[in-house]
Amino acid sequence: MIEIQHLGKQFRNETEIHYRDLAFETGKSYMLLGASGCGKSTLLNMIAGILSPSEGRILIDGRDMTQASQKEKDSFRIQKIGYIFQDFKLIEDMTVADNLGILRLEKVDLSSMDEILEALGISEKKHARIKHLSGGQKQRVAIARALVKKPDIILADEPTGNLNFAIGEQVIRELVKVSQGKTLIAVTHDDRLAKYFDVVIDMNEITGGMEDSDLGREGAEC
Ligand SMILES: Nc1ncnc2c1ncn2[C@@H]1O[C@H](COP(=O)(O)OP(=O)(O)OP(=O)(O)O)[C@@H](O)[C@H]1O
Ligand SMILES: [Mg+2]
Repeated sequence: MIEIQHLGKQFRNETEIHYRDLAFETGKSYMLLGASGCGKSTLLNMIAGILSPSEGRILIDGRDMTQASQKEKDSFRIQKIGYIFQDFKLIEDMTVADNLGILRLEKVDLSSMDEILEALGISEKKHARIKHLSGGQKQRVAIARALVKKPDIILADEPTGNLNFAIGEQVIRELVKVSQGKTLIAVTHDDRLAKYFDVVIDMNEITGGMEDSDLGREGAEC
């Protein structure tokens, strides 16, 4: 279980985000909806230990991750978290297999690679270079790379942002299917995808109601 308590982030430009307390249970899938700029990516980055909160705590299975050193956070992320970035972060000149293969450097066991590529319907592209793949295929590779380490937690930042609705819907169905038994937290702007998730969280509510007159105010809560 991931619990966020009194969590807040202040950036150097003074943008300030406050999150309401929230718990993500193991084995459930969560969809985060919310206006642009309300702090969805920031929340995922704090859970992943890439960004440090300015206040509050993040407990993962009871352990206060905000007290951990950066080295411990990095090692936890490498072992336990699969992060699907919106812009994929794949190496275009390398093949699918090699993009996943570099995880060996992080001592990741890659024995489930073929099974995952198969489940995501891209096994025939295993030896193709990323630059020769379509947007939807790249998205699946990014998902495969996040899943191959068999993470307990999957964070997906707009995993369908680059896809048309039909392909995006298919990708979400596959992502939810392969995430069974794990904690999946996915950001998406498309409420038509809500039916595939166990819980839909409106980040506009989580980060505190923004009055119309406050829209655009620097540092405003969403
Ligand atoms: N590194 C940073 N430095 C300064 N401000 C930042 C930084 N990262 C994010 N912010 C600010 O924090 C707020 C939340 O950003 P975040 O990227 O979390 O929003 P988001 O909900 O993911 O938005 P979107 O839907 O557009 O991706 C924004 O006002 C943004 O400008
Ligand atoms: Mg974002």
